[in-house]
Amino acid sequence: MAGLGTRLLPATKSQPKEMLPVARKPIVQYVAEELVKNQIENMLFVTGRGKTSIENHFDSDVDLMRLLTDGKKEDLLDELKFEEMAAHIFYTRQRVQRGLGDAILCGEVFAGENPFVVALGDSILGMNGSSMCVTRMSDLFTSLRASCVIAVEEVPLEETCHYGIVDPGEGEGDWVRIRNLVEKPDPASAPSRLAVAGRYAFSPIIFDMIRRVKPDKRGEIQLTDAIQLLCDEGKRVIALKLPKQDKRYDIGNFPSYFETFVEFALADPLYGPDLKRRLQELLRE
Ligand code: G1P
Repeated sequence: MAGLGTRLLPATKSQPKEMLPVARKPIVQYVAEELVKNQIENMLFVTGRGKTSIENHFDSDVDLMRLLTDGKKEDLLDELKFEEMAAHIFYTRQRVQRGLGDAILCGEVFAGENPFVVALGDSILGMNGSSMCVTRMSDLFTSLRASCVIAVEEVPLEETCHYGIVDPGEGEGDWVRIRNLVEKPDPASAPSRLAVAGRYAFSPIIFDMIRRVKPDKRGEIQLTDAIQLLCDEGKRVIALKLPKQDKRYDIGNFPSYFETFVEFALADPLYGPDLKRRLQELLRE
């Protein structure tokens, strides 16, 4: 789930940013595959106006399969294997764009009394979505009896204004307790350089907190404010530091989208080596 994608106009004028390709696949496919690898069995996509192509992407396309089989292009059938994804997929629509907190509220009935994971559709974790951090988050959630576990990564100080930033307390190894959380602070007032990295594990108590949050200046219900309420109530809110190999690829703006595309394309076993040669030539010109 994510917002309107205005930072990626005109590319996102008539398609959701989650459907932009990174190398061979749309971003949302990497995210879904990462979740499946992390044993998530039921997935709810919170979509909205203009995002039906996400649903089309995950449908089984029998006509296309027949076309490929009849045209003796069976090898391409492998590219559609993801349609058999080992997860139940559900969709709901956020009827009005009222921010990330409100989008999560759309999943309340789906989650029921169960803890759940939130994955933002504009972040890929690890090369080709290889991160197992959601599994680690779920383990920590249980062992620390937490109300919330958030994946965080260290960002340069001048970038704190793009992320939710954590005020860290006590911890052990790869996790720390979160005392406070600030949405997009200036570097001068940022409590640390630990940025919220687009994956969260929640107890359903978060829904009550979201309902208590007042809309911000833009009329949006910030998830960060709801998590701050958890901290204020003395609940255990934990930050899990992403391991080095789990680099976060942010697709929310052009510079990092371009970088991500190039890095993933270079890692493509078939097309990567030629692309590398071509890039080296271009850079020499
Ligand atoms: C959202 C969250 C922010 C988080 C970021 C990660 O912001 O509000 O706390 O750090 O995602 O991608 P957005 O990028 O939607 O403005």
